[in-house]
Amino acid sequence: RRNSKGVNLWCEKHWKQLHADLRQWDSHQWHAASSPVSAASLSEKRASGGAAETMHSPRDLREVVGHVVWSTPEELQSALQVAEQFFPTWSATPVEKRAIALEKFADLMESNLAELMALCCREAGKTMQDGIDEVREAVDFCRYYAVQARKLMGKPELLPGPTGESNELYSVGRGTFVCISPWNFPLAIFTGQVVAALVAGNCVLAKPAEQTSLIAARAVALMHEAGIPARALQLLLGDGAKIGPDLLSDKRVAGVAFTGSTGAAHSINRTLAARDGAIGILIAETGGQNAMIVDSTALPEQVCRDVLQSAFASAGQRCSALRVLFVQEDIADQLIEVLGGALRELRVDDPRYLSTDVGPVIDAEALGNLKAHIRTIGEHSRWQARGSVHGVGSSHAEGLQGHYLAPTIVEIDSLDQLQAEHFGPVLHVIRYSAKGLTSVIDSINNSGFGLTLGIHTRNESAALDIERRVRVGNTYINRNQIGAVVGVQPFGGLGLSGTGPKAGGPHYLPRFTTERVRTINT
Ligand code: SER
Repeated sequence: RRNSKGVNLWCEKHWKQLHADLRQWDSHQWHAASSPVSAASLSEKRASGGAAETMHSPRDLREVVGHVVWSTPEELQSALQVAEQFFPTWSATPVEKRAIALEKFADLMESNLAELMALCCREAGKTMQDGIDEVREAVDFCRYYAVQARKLMGKPELLPGPTGESNELYSVGRGTFVCISPWNFPLAIFTGQVVAALVAGNCVLAKPAEQTSLIAARAVALMHEAGIPARALQLLLGDGAKIGPDLLSDKRVAGVAFTGSTGAAHSINRTLAARDGAIGILIAETGGQNAMIVDSTALPEQVCRDVLQSAFASAGQRCSALRVLFVQEDIADQLIEVLGGALRELRVDDPRYLSTDVGPVIDAEALGNLKAHIRTIGEHSRWQARGSVHGVGSSHAEGLQGHYLAPTIVEIDSLDQLQAEHFGPVLHVIRYSAKGLTSVIDSINNSGFGLTLGIHTRNESAALDIERRVRVGNTYINRNQIGAVVGVQPFGGLGLSGTGPKAGGPHYLPRFTTERVRTINT
């Protein structure tokens, strides 16, 4: 709920204290280097000539957030060796002890809320609301997987057998897991992957997106403080395209948890498949070309709110975000007019302010790609509307030099005009006729992606029919289609959108384990 100035009321209630806490981190600079087990400390690395890269904030490029020292090829090798040697010890550690460490880490995140929010805001350009949601989701992953791990690994399952024989089925970690996480959920997805692999008894080499290395390094420090041994969890920093091949072609890597682009997932899959020896497994969550279907029974004002949230919250930088809105032609003009008006009300501004709806996109490359797409698609569009960037020159954000992009809605003729996922605040609208619903469904399925789907209708049987026919992992009916909650909407897609299992669901942890059976002739 929001007040008359558009400020979220939950935030406003807690805002005064949080605001004071956040201010302490306004000009703080963080430092990150790879794992302390295999590498020298940051200051030693600097003294020995290790180059530290200065990280700037997407909210204002003049703002220095901190410094990162990238991992060397020797550190990768050393990290692999440390993980391999420590695996028997970590795997034999009682699951209760591992689960308690996750819960302690969750407590530590809550008590460091302001610092983590400040990091999300300054390093990743997240709004305050997104920062709170990010920490909340990371905490939820820890508590949820701790409970799931106790259920899965607490005691062996006794199986029937002949008299005089006992048969027990139990699950253990697979070995060394590499967790490769994206910048768009720099704390939540990073945490979800890493704690799942750890609590299941694997040693982890965590490789966050280079844009958000500082957040990851802070999370790893808190995990170590929570009791996760430094040899069980090591951090590797750098460009995935450079680090990835060396790391993943090594036979000691038992599995990879990856969230990012479909292209990168294919390349990881090829690297794993080309190795001799044990077959490594891949758990991938990738992109989407997510659609919402709105039929003529839907109420435009209600649809408008859910469309704006789904397409433009987090500056459209969610894999769940709405990219293509299919509107039945009878209500298309009316809905487009309402959407165009509402779009211009969105506040694109400095993410440090509660009234900001849309913050910056992550970096110059993303901004350039999105602008190029808007230019190209705009040439073939029937209609378009653009919001405005309020930040620059406003009292909040005078003279900001960040990666801000006005949210844009473009009407196009068909899904074939979109060859790729455009990861930012750009929404495409396509009209359809009642008779054309089947071809709408076919075009969504033919895209090959299958992550989220939104449906708005007051005809319940129509909604269930569409839900059944469109092959996606997560469907949302008569609401927005982002913000899956851990344990409530397990999240993940099909086809080009990922391998499953669903993150935050009851079947996620087993994929990080392997099963063993012990038969005893008593
Ligand atoms: N899990 C996020 C959401 O549901 C996307 O990664 O929005």
